[in-house]
Amino acid sequence: MTNHDRDPAENGSTAGTNQAGPGVPDAAAVPGGDAAPDSGTAPGGGSAHDSDSDIVLEARGVTKHFPVRRTVGDLVSRRRRTVHAVDDVSLRLRRGSVTALVGESGSGKSTVARLLSQLYPLTEGEIRLGGTPVKAGRGRSFRAYVKQVQLIFQDPFASLNPVHTVRYHLTRSLKIHGKQATEAEACELLERVQLLPPLQYLDKFPHELSGGQRQRVAIARALGADPKVLLADEPVSMLDVSIRLGVLNLLRDLKERLHLAILYITHDIASARYFADTTLVMYAGRIVEGGDSETVTQQPAHPYTQLLIASAPDPDRLADEEAQEETGSGEPPSLISPPGGCRFHPRCPKAMERCRTELPPRFELDDGQWAACWLYEDRPVTTAVPGAPVSGDVTGTGTGPTGSGPTASTTEVAAK
Ligand SMILES: Nc1ncnc2c1ncn2[C@@H]1O[C@H](COP(=O)(O)OP(=O)(O)O)[C@@H](O)[C@H]1O
Ligand code: SF4
Ligand SMILES: [Mg+2]
Repeated sequence: MTNHDRDPAENGSTAGTNQAGPGVPDAAAVPGGDAAPDSGTAPGGGSAHDSDSDIVLEARGVTKHFPVRRTVGDLVSRRRRTVHAVDDVSLRLRRGSVTALVGESGSGKSTVARLLSQLYPLTEGEIRLGGTPVKAGRGRSFRAYVKQVQLIFQDPFASLNPVHTVRYHLTRSLKIHGKQATEAEACELLERVQLLPPLQYLDKFPHELSGGQRQRVAIARALGADPKVLLADEPVSMLDVSIRLGVLNLLRDLKERLHLAILYITHDIASARYFADTTLVMYAGRIVEGGDSETVTQQPAHPYTQLLIASAPDPDRLADEEAQEETGSGEPPSLISPPGGCRFHPRCPKAMERCRTELPPRFELDDGQWAACWLYEDRPVTTAVPGAPVSGDVTGTGTGPTGSGPTASTTEVAAK
């Protein structure tokens, strides 16, 4: 079993600096190669959120529609259907900060991670690394991008090759990213993920490790790139409950020591409160609420967030029977034909007539919290385009897919 309690040796990591080395394209091909200036702000703390220079990776109005395989009926009616997996998602990841993306299965979280990893082309929108728009590429420019933005998958067993040792996985990562692929470097990576003593793990195969240890190796491999961003897609959901906390603590420790920007994708909103600085809530392809994690989880504004919280009991929260009765139920909608207006309206106990036809914009609440819900129509609609400073530290819905401005009166037409 991993020794989770032991402090890893300080490793003097250089994450957060431009590590472009031999074989890595020039800055023009490496968006964000000019690392955000080290402002010296407290990692993860409130002050770190005050500066745009801390924004490492940003999505602006990102949209992904997948074409659906056509049936005979589609051919006859000449219909082309698409899965609206992600619509108009904007978010910012800051150095030294964890942003949670929370939502039920099928809400589009993994698609967001894959879009941010450049694994899929965007249908619409833009991704910026270090302030520079990135173009989906292959070859060297793609390698230069993934060197800075690493994705960690849910299933560490599937992501590690069963016929290769830990040593192979780590040295290969170091080699690919232009580093010295020595035993000492591999051991340093293992120390960073608290697999101690490292020599004990170096020649093990994935099947000889526990789930938690495998996930730590997957994280160590990602760190071999010296990334600025970790996209962690449900990194603990396949692990035993008893070891989840250890892996989350490790990620938090990496955030603080290496100033990493981390996107933590989860369906467990309670863990977002514990682990993330900022929480974004996603429903049926759209982000519906955002703010600092404590506020979003303790005073959820959007009825969908309230439903998520009610179905994830938190011992710290006083039971509110009445509120729980009103939180709604049901299943997420089909994303081939998502509901018009607010996509949550078929499940929402507070739905009003306009919710069926009009897409709610992002209404600003207090302390940087916001919700895309007509219940808050007396509050100001944000006019900030994603990327401009806003009172909070996150952006969400509220601009069209091209970032063309607020959508206060946007009527979303139900997909055909
Ligand atoms: N490659 C794909 N082709 C078609 N549909 C997809 C593809 N990937 C995901 N989807 C669909 O997009 C929606 C969102 O999926 P996903 O991003 O995996 O959600 P989550 O990670 O929140 O469970 C689902 O309806 C899923 O079936
Ligand atoms: S906009 Fe309407 S349907 Fe949507 S969450 Fe708010 S009240 Fe419910
Ligand atoms: Mg997923």
